[in-house]
Amino acid sequence: MSTPQSPLHGPSRHESAHGHVSGAARYVDDLPRPGGLLIGLPVGSPVARGRLKAVNCAAALAVPGVHAVLLARDVPGHNRLGPIVHDEPLLAEDELYAVGQLVALIVGESVAACRAAAQKLEIVVDEAPAILSVADAIAAGSYLGTPHVMRRGDVEAALARAALQIEGELASGGQDHFYLETQAALAIPGEDGSLEIHSSTQHPTEIQVATAEILGCDRNRIVVLVPRMGGGFGGKESQATHFAALAALAAVRLQRPVKVWLSRELDMQMTGKRHPFWSRYRAGFDAHGRILGLEVFIYADGGWSIDLTPAILDRALFHLANAYYVPALRFEGRAVRTNTASNTAFRGFGGPQGMLVIEDAMSRAAERLGIDPAELRRRNYYGPEALQVSDSGPLAVDAPLPEGELDERVVASLHGRKLTPYYQTVEDCRLPRIHRELLQQADYAARRAEIDAFNARSPLVKRGLGFMPVKFGISFTNSVLNQAGALVLIYTDGSVQLNHGGTEMGQGLHSKMLAVCAHELGVPERCVRVMTTATDKVPNTSATAASSGSDLNGAAVQRACAELRERLRPLAAELLGAAPELVGFSDGQVSVVGGRSISFAELTRAAWARRISLSAAGYYATPGIVYDREAGRGKPFHYFAYGAALTEVEVSGLTGEHRVLRVDILHDVGRSLLPNIDRGQIEGAYIQGLGWLTCEELVWDPRGRLLTHGPSTYKIPAVGDAPEDFRVSLLRDAPQADVIHGSKAVGEPPFMLAISVIPALRHAIAGFGEAGLEPRLTLPCTPEAILRAIEDIRARARAAQVSAAE
Ligand code: MTE
Ligand code: MOS
Repeated sequence: MSTPQSPLHGPSRHESAHGHVSGAARYVDDLPRPGGLLIGLPVGSPVARGRLKAVNCAAALAVPGVHAVLLARDVPGHNRLGPIVHDEPLLAEDELYAVGQLVALIVGESVAACRAAAQKLEIVVDEAPAILSVADAIAAGSYLGTPHVMRRGDVEAALARAALQIEGELASGGQDHFYLETQAALAIPGEDGSLEIHSSTQHPTEIQVATAEILGCDRNRIVVLVPRMGGGFGGKESQATHFAALAALAAVRLQRPVKVWLSRELDMQMTGKRHPFWSRYRAGFDAHGRILGLEVFIYADGGWSIDLTPAILDRALFHLANAYYVPALRFEGRAVRTNTASNTAFRGFGGPQGMLVIEDAMSRAAERLGIDPAELRRRNYYGPEALQVSDSGPLAVDAPLPEGELDERVVASLHGRKLTPYYQTVEDCRLPRIHRELLQQADYAARRAEIDAFNARSPLVKRGLGFMPVKFGISFTNSVLNQAGALVLIYTDGSVQLNHGGTEMGQGLHSKMLAVCAHELGVPERCVRVMTTATDKVPNTSATAASSGSDLNGAAVQRACAELRERLRPLAAELLGAAPELVGFSDGQVSVVGGRSISFAELTRAAWARRISLSAAGYYATPGIVYDREAGRGKPFHYFAYGAALTEVEVSGLTGEHRVLRVDILHDVGRSLLPNIDRGQIEGAYIQGLGWLTCEELVWDPRGRLLTHGPSTYKIPAVGDAPEDFRVSLLRDAPQADVIHGSKAVGEPPFMLAISVIPALRHAIAGFGEAGLEPRLTLPCTPEAILRAIEDIRARARAAQVSAAE
């Protein structure tokens, strides 16, 4: 239990906030320059597809200050990497698969010298036709990995008896991570073939592993350190590895420290993005708007190599049904190989792309059936509450199912609408409560009515209000990855060094770990220092990803600290002359209730004198998770995070521009470890999602060269795009069992709350047409896309008037 002095659950600030705002916080490029530092500049393929015939280096090497041009043949070990399958050469051998694919590393004394040399490097290629879209890849049979299928019941029978059938196709675009700090690494050679690598990475262990393979040495030669990242967002989960490995290769070849730091342009050209997806679906609803059956084919554009694509595709499938119980279903997911940068993890990890599909079906069903879109969604939640009486009267129970489905019907009723498409039971669906509280708090019904009245009298400007619930599975879906470690060192002045396996990318993980440690040892936060993440302190770590950084590392920190505290307790009892169970640790004091006390520092000195160890490692593995991909069944998630959002927009019928007027969010973070940090995560994730859906658009030329490779052509949301009125609240009284101090993961789930902007825009666009007409809106919802949808619905409304008049 927390004490009044505990740093948990109360007001807090980010542990590096003062450094972020003053500029004192150090990133890789801010580390002091080691003597003899050289710069490494990667050079990428000029073509999207082709044969690499030669790389002529003479002219580049002649540039003053240039020391080397490294190619595939300079790799001493294994020229291969990749987080799941080693299918990527670090430096291209004879085939080229994407513009920007790494071909060479120029090493020189300055960035200017390297850039001059890059201009003179002659890469000779035979260009071949490239595959640049999902449609082309499907036509060419260009796939990555195997399909993933989930099925339950007889989906054809369910669709056949549905009162409403909807067919749809949906394309969602990529998204650049646009972290403020681009990819960066500094490698420093040491004694005996050892190497220290400072990297801006979410996954230091992967860099250690990959670099050892590339150099052909044991992993114990390499130490990887992560000071902090200026953002990762998934883009540094697997793809920081390439640049760290290049720095390491050059450092070892030249026996000099080498830094690789990408310009924004190179970073955008060379690194993968959120996967574009394309899908088609058929959905069947009953007359009350309850979904009966859903069939989906979903395709992820993996780019040129496997990277994390299979895991991202899996998560898209796990989230195809979002928050809704779907009785009969068939989901099939495939990944395609195209000749673009290899697409990678990005906040939500395929979940957002998956959810878009069923949300499209839900929006369209509401429009067709004339049911309020929030109410229609509520009727589909997991759990029996969704069947309860609604504002519009009681709902009939499911119509009888055809005999072929009886089996599944029994299963479904046994579980009381609790079974996900992958057969995990949803235990504690918090959405009915979140739904009720948010709609009431945000005055939903009255605002919807007001907006309809506004739209009726405003010809050129329309408003819309959109609702979106989110249910997001927490755990790495590759169950093995759900483990973490910590190493806590206490010194004899009572100060503490905290090492844990997670990395800090701005999300506040270090702040949370610091608070957990201080709470557990009963010392003030100022006595604890969170150390640079390092592979020689906590080994064999997983990436800080899947939003699980504080769940996993928090439990490991808690265990290490609890072990130390319990080790010290008998000594404290002896010194205080009391029974061990009466000794309390809090606020830097070790005391007996109502009795004597000594300081934590005094206790540590006494422990040293008694030869009691003052350091401990902690380890945690999430219990009870398992998934069988072949069968499409299991319990992949430890629990689910929930939330819901309401977004209000205003759209101009003249330009297609829109503004987000107001956003209301109610999000479930369990019993928040640090509420301020969680609020920041929710706001940031929502805005980042809004960027993906409304303003960020990647454009390639017909030869596969990215045209949008800087802030002038690629628009991320700015402060002016943030909602004018942004109301975020955390669900109260909602502790989560079996998670660190009752908290819940927060990093990714709120990203998907931004999907509420789509039903909001649809509501506004529908206002330009006529009742019963469905807007046709494509993603991203840029002003062009919105204007096209407005013109289309106006044209259909006019056509309907003409035919009615005839
Ligand atoms: N917040 C900030 N400020 N910067 C980031 O790079 N990454 C997000 C999220 N929030 C990110 C962030 C992603 S993709 C994930 S998976 C989680 O943080 C990872 O950290 P956690 O597991 O500690 O939540
Ligand atoms: Mo986050 S996409 O899991 O790094």
